[in-house]
Amino acid sequence: MKKLVIAIDGPAGAGKSTVAQIVARKMGYVYIDTGAMYRAVTWLALRQNLTVKDAAAIGDLAAGAVIELTYAAGKLVVLANGEDVTGPIRTPEVTGWVAEISQILPVREAMLVLQRNMAARGGVVMDGRDIASRVLPDADVKVFLTASIEERARRRWKEMLDKGYTVDLEELKREIADRDRKDYEREYAPLIQTEDAVLVDTTAMSIEAAVDEILKICEEKSGGI
Ligand code: CDP
Repeated sequence: MKKLVIAIDGPAGAGKSTVAQIVARKMGYVYIDTGAMYRAVTWLALRQNLTVKDAAAIGDLAAGAVIELTYAAGKLVVLANGEDVTGPIRTPEVTGWVAEISQILPVREAMLVLQRNMAARGGVVMDGRDIASRVLPDADVKVFLTASIEERARRRWKEMLDKGYTVDLEELKREIADRDRKDYEREYAPLIQTEDAVLVDTTAMSIEAAVDEILKICEEKSGGI
C-alpha cells in the first residue's frame, strides 16, 4: 500500500502532538513535530540572548542549525546542534517567545527545507500550523484539529501541573489566545484551515476517538489510491 503523507494543523492544546504520535505509531509511520523545531530555534536564540529585534541573526542561526527529531525508548528526543533540548524547549520562557520567533521569514524558510526533506520518503505524520497550506500542500490526508479555547487551556493547565509548574488557568487562557492570534494573523504562513482539510473538533472527544477518526480518514484515502 502507498505510504501516506498526513498533515495535521491546528492551534495550541488541540491535542495535535498526542493524536499525531499515536496515529503514526499505529500506521508504522514517522511522527514529525514541527512545533518542536520552532521551539528548538527559539531556545537557541534565547541562549544567545537574541531578541526578536535581531531577526537577521536569528535567521542565520536557524539556517545554520542542525535540528534533529529522534526517538529513545519510544519518546521523542529533540537535538539542537547535537544538544538534547527535549525538556528545555517546553519551558514557559520558550513557549512565551516561540510565536514571535516563528514569524521571522528566514526562520520559516530554514524549517520548511528541513521539514520537506523529512517528509520526502512518505509514511509521515507531520503536525504544526502551516503543514497543509505550505509545507506539504500535496499531503494525502489533511486534518485541522481544534477544540474550544476553554478546553485547550484546561488541557495545557493539566499538562503543566503534571510537569510541576503552577499556573493560573485564566492566565494560561490569555496566553494561548495571544499565541493563537499571533499564529492566525502573521504575514507568512499563518495558521489556516485549508479548504481540503477535514475539521476534527476534539472539545468533547477523547484522544482515542480523535485517533480513530483520523485513521478512518486515512483508510478511506488509501482505498481510493
Ligand atoms: O505545543 P503547542 O501546541 O503549544 O505548540 P507547538 O506545536 O509546540 O508550536 C509552538 C509554536 O511554534 C506555535 O505557537 C507557532 O507559533 C510555532 N509553529 C509555527 O509557526 N509553525 C509550525 N508549523 C509549528 C509551530
